[in-house]
Amino acid sequence: MRGKITADFIARFGGQPLIFRSPGRINILGEHTDYNDGFVLPAAIDKCIYVAISKRADGKVNLYATDFNEGFTTDTGNIRPASLQWPNYILGVVDQLQKHGHTIGGFNLLIDGDIPIGAGLSSSAAVECVVIYALNEIFALGLSRMQMAPLAQKAEHVFAGVNCGIMDQFASLFGKKDHAIKLDCRSMEYEYVPVKHEGYKIILFNSNVKHNLASSEYNTRRSQCESGIAMIKQFHPSVKKLRDVTMNMLHDHVEPVDGLIYKRCRYVVEENERVLGACEDLKKGDIKALGSKMYETHRGLRFDYEVSCKEIDFLVDYTRSNEDVAGARMVGGGFGGCTINFIKDHAVEKLTAGISRDYKKETGLRLTAYEVSLEDGTGPCMTVL
Ligand code: GLA
Repeated sequence: MRGKITADFIARFGGQPLIFRSPGRINILGEHTDYNDGFVLPAAIDKCIYVAISKRADGKVNLYATDFNEGFTTDTGNIRPASLQWPNYILGVVDQLQKHGHTIGGFNLLIDGDIPIGAGLSSSAAVECVVIYALNEIFALGLSRMQMAPLAQKAEHVFAGVNCGIMDQFASLFGKKDHAIKLDCRSMEYEYVPVKHEGYKIILFNSNVKHNLASSEYNTRRSQCESGIAMIKQFHPSVKKLRDVTMNMLHDHVEPVDGLIYKRCRYVVEENERVLGACEDLKKGDIKALGSKMYETHRGLRFDYEVSCKEIDFLVDYTRSNEDVAGARMVGGGFGGCTINFIKDHAVEKLTAGISRDYKKETGLRLTAYEVSLEDGTGPCMTVL
């Protein structure tokens, strides 16, 4: 990728660029817990967004996306949301940096990558993270990764309109080879948990669907969690987020008032507990125990949080009775994208062939399967591919 992106950049803009990369992420457990001040357990993967970038002497911002075969030009005095979607993940970052008092000069930037879009692997967060990292380097802004993560997250809120939590940007920036990150989204304390999965491969099945209610429903889930908090707060004023809530509080103050809000909140409270258990399973190398938690999580996401969809449910259900699959569940915000599966090495090929065939029969859609490895977070790109 480094060789190709450099050549593409030189052909388009001239000059010698610097190259940076930022990975997509999976999440082992802890879905929709981040914006509830809870715990998550994501990991960066071997699929990345790459940028080639160089400074300009003037204030022009020239962008080019190889994937879309499309350019976009503006200048640093005129950063606002564009009608095209992809430049917004870049411009949103420039906007945040400017709002935080950083001077950003003009630049040429070419973007490319191999994270499938809309697959729940956070390609948008990877764009934000690689851009903030690259701008931090070329304009010597002196930001730490811990400072970059919330700015990249805010860029998504303001320029993409999704009120996402911190998980995706954090995972992309802080990933570590062969490790997941146990992140406390309240204190921002984190711990690297080794993911030893001898005998199993981590396989993603991409449903290749992304239902367009994803972002509106995401924002709705956030406000449903807030509604639950408001009901409890009247009786427990110290409660700030679902992180502080117990099952008893939900039984006493939410269940009698609103059954739907109760289901949403119950899922989050249970999921937080599951993440802590999953970390213990990983430390013990107990992939079976981890896997059954993944199935429980999927159940919660499907029936209580209601962010799954029939294509994804088909893929998870398909694996349930297969004893070579330790666990499977949807990954990311929901309404399509990928399932994550821990599958015995020897069974991957046969299962992939079977599930692809039957998924096609069931939905008419093509399934894509990827084996993923866990990799380091955002940084300069050294390898020439
Ligand atoms: C999206 C958001 C994250 C997180 C997940 C669900 O990926 O960007 O912040 O909320 O959904 O766990």
